[in-house]
Amino acid sequence: MAKEKFLNQTYQLETPEDTFAHYEAWAETYDEEITENDYAQPRRCAAALAQYSSSSEINVLDIGCGSGLSGMALSDSGFKNIDGCDFSPAMLEKAMNTDVYKKLFLADINQELNIEAETYDAVSAVGVLAFAHIRTEALRQMLRTIKSEGLLVIGLNEHYWEGDSVGEKIRSLVEEGEVELLFEEYGEHLPGADIGGWVAVLRKK
Ligand SMILES: C[S@@+](CC[C@H](N)C(=O)[O-])C[C@H]1O[C@@H](n2cnc3c(N)ncnc32)[C@H](O)[C@@H]1O
Repeated sequence: MAKEKFLNQTYQLETPEDTFAHYEAWAETYDEEITENDYAQPRRCAAALAQYSSSSEINVLDIGCGSGLSGMALSDSGFKNIDGCDFSPAMLEKAMNTDVYKKLFLADINQELNIEAETYDAVSAVGVLAFAHIRTEALRQMLRTIKSEGLLVIGLNEHYWEGDSVGEKIRSLVEEGEVELLFEEYGEHLPGADIGGWVAVLRKK
């Protein structure tokens, strides 16, 4: 029997509850389907973060780590101290099998995060800012967990970048003096599905 495909449904999700159920159901075949479409964001984000990081020893939180593809790309780029979190237990269970994370925990990033302020040298959020996923407002929460002068890398598809004015929201954070924008690049997101995406690297002030 042909395996159920989930990728197209990802762009039709309307509520966080739909999104939760979607990833719980997709966890088993997520890596296979997404890799078939040559998912580019994990390697693009990891390379961009490595470009601005002072050391491979920094502690990085992979927010919305899913099955661990984004953490594996960080590990391939040399990062050694990676934690991960996600709100889907089924996706986290897959991430546990990757062996690249020091610590994995459940967290809903749209809620107040139970992470002490200024814990991480860097946060990576790959493919998680999206419709009915993690809202752009959560960037402030992500920044709260980062040490002063620490880095935030985000990678997201072009539809959400435009639909939720993510670039403008980043510019507001720059104007408010919260962050410095180090890098912003349009490129591949899921080339197999003909979807482009943006990568941005911010430094917290
Ligand atoms: C497209 S996957 C990306 C996973 C991984 N970062 C990658 O690049 O393969 C989106 C992930 O975001 C998670 N997610 C969506 N909304 C979330 C939320 N509110 N809090 C935490 N995780 C969330 C999903 O469970 C899923 O694992």
